[in-house]
Amino acid sequence: MLYNLTQRPRRLRDNSVLRNSLIENKIEVADLILPVFVTDSKNEPEEIPSMPEVYRWPLSKLVDQIGRWTDQGIQLFAIFPCLDESLKDDSGTEILNSNSLVYRVARLLKENHPEIVLIGDLALDPYTIHGHDGILDQNKKVLNDETVEILSKAGVEAAKAGFNFVAPSDMMDGRVSIIRKNLDQSNFTETGIIAYSAKFCSSYYGPFRDAVGSSRKDRIDKSSYQLNPGNANEAKRELALDEIEGADILMIKPAEPYLDIIQSAKLEHNLPIAAYQVSGEYSRLWAAHSFGWLDLDACSMESILSIKRAGADLIFTYFAERISHQINQSTSSGAPPS
Ligand code: PBG
Repeated sequence: MLYNLTQRPRRLRDNSVLRNSLIENKIEVADLILPVFVTDSKNEPEEIPSMPEVYRWPLSKLVDQIGRWTDQGIQLFAIFPCLDESLKDDSGTEILNSNSLVYRVARLLKENHPEIVLIGDLALDPYTIHGHDGILDQNKKVLNDETVEILSKAGVEAAKAGFNFVAPSDMMDGRVSIIRKNLDQSNFTETGIIAYSAKFCSSYYGPFRDAVGSSRKDRIDKSSYQLNPGNANEAKRELALDEIEGADILMIKPAEPYLDIIQSAKLEHNLPIAAYQVSGEYSRLWAAHSFGWLDLDACSMESILSIKRAGADLIFTYFAERISHQINQSTSSGAPPS
């Protein structure tokens, strides 16, 4: 039997050649930024228990490892230091030490892989004993302007060390403009700012805090600076402010739970939009995979695709290596982009 249907959308899905030609959104390796954890206190890469296949890399192994990633086409890296507790204090002073781990990493990588794009996360939490992103007053309130002052100096250190971008992840008010001003005054006009503009106070950051050693026994509360997960207008306000203050790229974080925010940012701004698929988004897929409940490759690709479809031009993801394998295997030449 045949109905008299005027619309038969399946006509366009019937044939695999046509299906391929009509794909609206595809992930490319060039869209991906790989977050990399580095350490000084180990000689071998150390797997992070809550993040399978993600390691803390010792400096001695990092240059070769970056080479393996660039062979797959990954060219953008966000560096996160995991510091020895002895280097931490209440105000994170180690962040201003030009010889601190993260700056040594940048110098070493730029010497050996000058072509890569390096992003330096800018926040105090890897450097403070209390694990907050800023310095505290007597009542344990995170101080805004004093924190911005330190971060803007650290931005100059990061630029000196060779980072192409600094990425303030602290959510202090006004930090983008002060960081920009300090960079410019020090002649680092070419160093860009990827602003964590809409960073939500999310429960998905747990595994990351294990990775950098900033987790504390009593659950840390960052709600006086990170955004309430229910607040979309406030996120829009933050995104708009960072654009005005001089950010080059606006970021939303986490990613998949905030696709609505990514989409509205893409529609409202002409700057590139980045999204950070965070540690908990990674670990939840891994956990389901290890129970045999979800297919890791298929679900991670679907998750990244949803983030891109919502409007992200760049995606920070711990799946970058796996995803790039999938992409490279499916392209007919099999060759990663040069
Ligand atoms: C810290 C920072 C965090 C992440 C990136 N930078 C954690 C936090 O705000 O506590 C989270 C990344 C992730 O979960 O993958 N400024």
